[in-house]
Amino acid sequence: MAAGRIPQSFIDELLARVDIVEVIDAHLPLRKVGRSYQALCPFHREKTPSFNVNPDKQFYHCFGCGASGSAIRFLMEHARLGFVEAVTQLADRVGLEIPTDTGAVRRQGHAELYAVLDEAAQWFVAQLGQHPAAGPAVAYLKQRGLSGRIAAAYRIGYAPPGWDHLLCGLGTDPDRVDALVRGGILARKDGGACYDRFRDRVMFPIEDPRGHVIGFGGRVIGEGSPKYLNSPETPIFHKGGEVYGLRQALQGHDKPKRLFVVEGYMDVLALAQHGITNAVATLGTALTREHLGRLFRVVPDLVFCFDGDEAGLRAAWRALETALAYLSEGRSVGFLILPNGEDPDSLVRAEGPGLFERAEAITPLSTFLFDTLSARTDPRSVEGQARLLEIALPLVATVPRGPLRDLLTQHLSDRARMDATRWLAPGSRPRSTSSRGEPKHAVPSLVRKAIATLLHEPSLALAVPADSVQDLAGVSRPGVDLLVEILGLVHANPGIGCAAILERYRDSEQGTYLSKLASQEVLVPAAGLSSELLGALERLKDQAAQARRHQATVEELTQGAGDQAP
Ligand code: UTP
Ligand code: MN
Repeated sequence: MAAGRIPQSFIDELLARVDIVEVIDAHLPLRKVGRSYQALCPFHREKTPSFNVNPDKQFYHCFGCGASGSAIRFLMEHARLGFVEAVTQLADRVGLEIPTDTGAVRRQGHAELYAVLDEAAQWFVAQLGQHPAAGPAVAYLKQRGLSGRIAAAYRIGYAPPGWDHLLCGLGTDPDRVDALVRGGILARKDGGACYDRFRDRVMFPIEDPRGHVIGFGGRVIGEGSPKYLNSPETPIFHKGGEVYGLRQALQGHDKPKRLFVVEGYMDVLALAQHGITNAVATLGTALTREHLGRLFRVVPDLVFCFDGDEAGLRAAWRALETALAYLSEGRSVGFLILPNGEDPDSLVRAEGPGLFERAEAITPLSTFLFDTLSARTDPRSVEGQARLLEIALPLVATVPRGPLRDLLTQHLSDRARMDATRWLAPGSRPRSTSSRGEPKHAVPSLVRKAIATLLHEPSLALAVPADSVQDLAGVSRPGVDLLVEILGLVHANPGIGCAAILERYRDSEQGTYLSKLASQEVLVPAAGLSSELLGALERLKDQAAQARRHQATVEELTQGAGDQAP
């Protein structure tokens, strides 16, 4: 972690590289509308989306509550991260290293980490085949019904017992040891000495869809605790968002339309062993928005498999609640509720893959939703119907607009014997807090126009000669100092983007004002923007000169009047 201040130039570069649409979409699903993206605002309660993400300017803005800012601000406000945490998360995302205290920006992707993790995976595979202590591991895998073919397809390996086998095998120099530590394969003691993190375990590499190894799960052979040891969080491994088996699921001849989402590594493997290769597992966490964002990016249909016991049904309900917001047109979610006490591994081994091949075994989300609700409320009493509406309305409200939402609403109306649409109808938008943060005196429209144009295309500032900026500085009109400041900012940092400018004013009164300007559409075509800006600046100077002449005349007159006084 970088100590001291993170240089502003790094923040600028970071914001130029990340895509705010991806960042926000991982937290709340966005819908493309024209050139921008929309969602229900996460910062205030609303029924119709007024939260906009602008991919050109790389910032978000809510027309309802006025919340706005860069990707950094979004993570700070929504994910409640600190500034440094937010910057770190974004830097990891795009493979930038945060510059250290000394000011040297060391730019580096994650190529080195991917490389050592891949080597580690190969090394574990080799150990499964040749290490003298690997016998029980091989026997264990066989006993669980896995063939050599599946072991190879999923690159299953073995970490030998002892503290330094991998360290000695792969840690040939301090740089590599360092990379293996950052990749989570070696652990470092307080004293600085390193040792093998995974010992005497069956190793399951976790790969991203492109086949980069990003982490591992290691299972004890037979009984033991912890049953699975997973890689720690690293710059390339974030347990709450990754799934196991995605590369294999996507690489078959036909890209699947549907993915089964199961809970365990062994479930994925047992299903693959029985020909169901389109299964992925979350890594011991509940289903997150990040998972959903990632999975819906590659397939339109997801089927969640859960044990039919009480804990399983609770988890299924939570998955349903999370998934509703992702059900835009063309996507579907279903549930495969397994017989009590079974997991996909035990089931497929006992009965074969039949259940996973029968479409009718899958409970559609709507059925699961209404069945569960009916079990919780009494549809015969008025109170029960009211209760049904109370529980269901907020859920249906999170489904994106479209046929599914309308049908769910209709169905709900039938069950509650009341027209539910009136509760879900687009309500009046919250009153705009438009006066918030605006400079005290109304900013003349020329200044506003100039700033808005600059935010739209910051590089235009470079066409404004430095002496012209000087002249402007002498213009005493509200907002001109801000305009001059931004012109100076771009002159000093050519290439700076809108989001980076906004980021510098985060949390200030001007910031709120600037975000609002940035959120306005600029109606001038791109080619005319430069003359728009220069024209506005010229007229501003003219107006100022006129005002000065007027002021001088007034002063002259009043002075004359003073002279005549006795
Ligand atoms: P399970 O215990 O269902 O895993 O935990 P499994 O894959 O079916 O294991 P087997 O069949 O007993 O071999 C589900 C998932 O929870 C995570 C793992 O990702 C596991 O696959 N988990 C479980 C851990 O991370 N640590 C643990 O100690 C246990
Ligand atoms: Mn299991």
